[in-house]
Amino acid sequence: MAEELETAQIPPHIMAAMRERMKMAQRMSRIKHKIVVMSGKGGVGKSSVAANLACVLAESGPTGLVDADVTGPDIAKLMGVEDAQVKATDTGLEPTTGPAGVRVISMAQMIDRDTAVVWRGPLKIKALKQMLSDVAVVVTTPQEVSLLDVRKSIAFARAVKMDILGVIENMSGFVCPHCGKETAIFKVGGGEAAAEELGLPFLGRIPLDPRIVIGGDAGKPFVLEHPDSAAAQAFREIVKKLRPRLKETKPRPTGPLAK
Ligand SMILES: Nc1ncnc2c1ncn2[C@@H]1O[C@H](COP(=O)(O)OP(=O)(O)OP(=O)(O)O)[C@@H](O)[C@H]1O
Ligand SMILES: [Mg+2]
Repeated sequence: MAEELETAQIPPHIMAAMRERMKMAQRMSRIKHKIVVMSGKGGVGKSSVAANLACVLAESGPTGLVDADVTGPDIAKLMGVEDAQVKATDTGLEPTTGPAGVRVISMAQMIDRDTAVVWRGPLKIKALKQMLSDVAVVVTTPQEVSLLDVRKSIAFARAVKMDILGVIENMSGFVCPHCGKETAIFKVGGGEAAAEELGLPFLGRIPLDPRIVIGGDAGKPFVLEHPDSAAAQAFREIVKKLRPRLKETKPRPTGPLAK
């Protein structure tokens, strides 16, 4: 009786939002590992790294990629599915299938639905946390300032009680295709040094390769187009390092009551 009374006092739009989140938590709980790809600042290659890592991970099991960037979602474009129709089903939105069989969906697509109002602001962050919050990998560039950027990521991960699996140093060195000489455009090693200083595992370096930009624009993930390149090899090495760490991590409880 007391419970009924309490339920009756919850405004209908909050109830609807709770129901929606419960449904989502149920669906998300079927996913074995959820990895957030994050960084302390923009433009360091999160989207590119996420798309390419997903393609490598998909070689050994069903993999999905959620674009949690609600202000500038670009994963659908990077994965060549931006024109694909997202179907709404009884159980929610059906992700589209991209290269290597990776299932792709964007938070922007979910937020644009009728729940848009309740998802704005802090609730959006909360929902994201519940959906995607097992572990994180941090992407950074090699400059010395990456120490500051990685620190920011650690602070965020701590705030949402999420473990960091390690640091990826992207845009690390460039081998000139004409003369074969290496140039450290953004320096090399800052991400690794930051990881060491902050006591985080270092997962690997991905060199600059203009074909990553071309692959992104064409919606054809680089690792699939140029599997023999040094950068593709680097992505595979990172996944190799990630695997055993993933096995050690326990999925966090998801659901409306998850902290
Ligand atoms: N290793 C790399 N070599 C060459 N270009 C790269 C590399 N990594 C990323 N890029 C390019 O750098 C640009 C920024 O990358 P990306 O969009 O993946 O970063 P982001 O961190 O997701 O950015 P945002 O913060 O805007 O979401 C893109 O044009 C991408 O193609
Ligand atoms: Mg991005």
